[in-house]
Amino acid sequence: MTEQSPALDNLSTETRSFVPSAEFVAGANVSGEWYERAGVDREGFWAEQAGRLSWERGWDRVLDWSGAPVARWFVGGSLNVAYNCVDRHVEAGFADQVAIHWVGEPGDRRDLTYGQLRVEVCRAANALVSLGVGSGDRVAIQLPMIPEAIVAMLACARIGALHSVVFGGFSPAALRSRVDDAAAKVVITSDGQYRRGKAAPMKANVDEALAGAESVETVLVVRRTGDEVSWVQGRDVWWHEVVEAQSDSHTAEAFDAEHPLFILYTSGTTGKPKGILHTSGGYLTQAAYTHHAVFDHRAGEDVYWCTADIGWVTGHTYIVYGPLANRATQVVYEGTPNTPHEGRHWEIIAEHKVSIYYTAPTLIRTFMKWGADIPARYDLSSLRVLGSVGEPINPEAWMWYREHIGGERCPVVDTWWQTETGAIMISPLPGVTAAKPGSAQRALPGISAKVVDDQGVEVPPGGGGYLVLDEPWPAMLRGIWGDEQRFRDTYWSRFAEQGFYFAGDGAKYDDDGDIWLLGRVDDVMNISGHRISTTEVESALVSHPDVAEAAVVGATDPTTGQGIVAFVILRGTATDHGTDTATTLRNHVATEIGPIAKPRQILVVPELPKTRSGKIMRRLLRDIAENREPGDVTTLADTTVMDHITTGLNKNT
Ligand code: WT7
Repeated sequence: MTEQSPALDNLSTETRSFVPSAEFVAGANVSGEWYERAGVDREGFWAEQAGRLSWERGWDRVLDWSGAPVARWFVGGSLNVAYNCVDRHVEAGFADQVAIHWVGEPGDRRDLTYGQLRVEVCRAANALVSLGVGSGDRVAIQLPMIPEAIVAMLACARIGALHSVVFGGFSPAALRSRVDDAAAKVVITSDGQYRRGKAAPMKANVDEALAGAESVETVLVVRRTGDEVSWVQGRDVWWHEVVEAQSDSHTAEAFDAEHPLFILYTSGTTGKPKGILHTSGGYLTQAAYTHHAVFDHRAGEDVYWCTADIGWVTGHTYIVYGPLANRATQVVYEGTPNTPHEGRHWEIIAEHKVSIYYTAPTLIRTFMKWGADIPARYDLSSLRVLGSVGEPINPEAWMWYREHIGGERCPVVDTWWQTETGAIMISPLPGVTAAKPGSAQRALPGISAKVVDDQGVEVPPGGGGYLVLDEPWPAMLRGIWGDEQRFRDTYWSRFAEQGFYFAGDGAKYDDDGDIWLLGRVDDVMNISGHRISTTEVESALVSHPDVAEAAVVGATDPTTGQGIVAFVILRGTATDHGTDTATTLRNHVATEIGPIAKPRQILVVPELPKTRSGKIMRRLLRDIAENREPGDVTTLADTTVMDHITTGLNKNT
């Protein structure tokens, strides 16, 4: 099995466990009996979960797996996703319930009730129709965390158009490749965004990206910062002019359960991001069910807050679709956690009486660094459930989260899933599970996961191997946009014989059979919970004229989980200007991909360690990046290479 970081290897030696309080258990949405029920009749269980939604037409069959690996769930059923997230709550008498407590970074705020959200979504849907967008068309969205981002996504869903949300931190080149890949007809963006107390441009990024983009007919621009923007006549229109002029009534048409809902790009092991395709009925069913079960969410009582950005799948499933389908009242915060001060999240929790808080380990470790005295100044007694997502959470961070944020009273749920799975797959249940710090523990009722060896044979308790999903699930991806072969190759070829979905993660069972995730086993890094491929950063580096060759590894980082370390060989014509060269190359990566992909460290080396077949041995580079003595070098084509590399580095430092 592939190399794991030694820090992660220690994870499963943790022995503490925390049972939920009797009071929590008594009032919980879900009991342990759900595992058995779902085990006896999986499809019946999912049919029951689909009953959380309003269907225009019921399904004839729960699952059709005859076209595996492309599943069809709730075959023959039809529904409108936006209607399920908004209108039906208004019709049920909850028009005045707050859907979104929006908090802007500079301190401005806006509350949107379900009634108001319905009006906004209808107007935006009418606006998109007036711009020629119809069912099956693609709309790219690059927006900050403002209510319009959610409205825009729901407006697409309402008319059957697919949204492709692109994280605001991606470069013009990254945005362009996504717009081209999906042939987006409309791009929705804003003039600018507030970031760390300053207004930063956004439309300028989009303008640069779209020069010559053939598919794009319209750019719809939301006014956020009020800063001046350049304008392309005939292409650009203001949101407040086009959307606000529309009628606030729009009849939501029902679409087939398998109608595509969105595309979301994620990094794979090659340089080209994959457009993960999700559809409607199964996705929304699992989004609603997991949000209900894992967070023990109660409509009209809880105040929920997921700190993700809508540019990632967490934002899609646990800000937009899951919570809104469940009629949640939620906080949406625009900015960074330390603007204007390091207690911003705790201040928001105290003010809005947030009861469910869902965030990422990298942020928890950042809070730890800032100090426990900061959250201690705020009233966090409204909290009752804490969630974690994005990467393995180390027991120390888990314990800190439980103690300093959860007041030792809130269950902590460590949720494992992926862009591809669409919704949570493995997680404790807050009113059932005796939670172990650092373990995602068990597949949810209705979901099946296994840890298997190289041959696809399940490993015994205490054993380690690869995480696979051995049964189809409702929110599973239906493909990679425009690349069916890659879909099969990436996920279904590794264990083709058994028909398992290969997740790309290493995992272990502990002696109780609970699952501990150990990080990626492919060339994908996890930086602050964001997936970045080593190949993508390598291609960005070699696209610089000074670089002949590059190898990138993810090295363990105390805050971000992994940090990007790049080893580069300069071209003969280029000279190494030390930190200047490193800065130039780091900025080059930011221009090519985005600031999130900037290497933490760039090391100029004379050679790279390669096997006889020419494959770079990243394991050895990781040893250097993590300050270890390089391991076994016997498979190298030239075993002296490591000496040349380390000698060169020691000379530089
Ligand atoms: C990869 C998926 C799921 C939304 C955020 C990331 C890692 C995610 C956990 C967790 C250990 C985790 C895995 C996975 N991951 N959650 N709780 N414990 N690892 O979505 O960008 O698609 O990344 O994130 O490696 O494969 P994503």
